[in-house]
Amino acid sequence: MTVYIAWLSGVVIHGDGRGNALGFPTANLDVPASGCADGVYAAWARIGDEPRWRQATASIGDNPTFGDVTETRVEAHIHDFAGDLYGMRVELALVALIREMTAFDDVETLISRTADDLIVSERLLATIAPPARAATISDSAN
Ligand SMILES: Cc1cc2nc3c(=O)[nH]c(=O)nc-3n(C[C@H](O)[C@H](O)[C@H](O)COP(=O)(O)O)c2cc1C
Repeated sequence: MTVYIAWLSGVVIHGDGRGNALGFPTANLDVPASGCADGVYAAWARIGDEPRWRQATASIGDNPTFGDVTETRVEAHIHDFAGDLYGMRVELALVALIREMTAFDDVETLISRTADDLIVSERLLATIAPPARAATISDSAN
């Protein structure tokens, strides 16, 4: 059995548009962080009503490297996905905290650390099964 840290579901909204330039595009979710600690997480992600779960690395926090984000953001880089997700629903099952959110001295350090995070995340996810079934938040209301 796997115990997930949190299960978040939200519609993808526009962030600041920096992700592509950094080399790690992210889906910014319109969902509260629901008490999750700020940090970087290994996560399973499901896009829309796809039956499969994809490997992802999630970031929760105010992107302190940039100093201009005033709210807590929930965003995820989905490892094997390239394309436009705006307006789609994405679910995240957070499985492990990799590290704390960090204010890096420069963007180059953020980029190299993010690349390391993805490797750690991939290794973790290889040992932790994705959710056994597709579920949405609305399921729990039934
Ligand atoms: C795996 C991962 C780790 C991240 N770690 C940090 C971090 O430690 N510090 C930080 O300021 N931002 C971090 N971020 C957030 C990036 O700053 C953010 O994704 C980027 O600025 C793009 O944001 P945008 O979608 O609003 O353009 C991380 C993002 C990812 C995907």
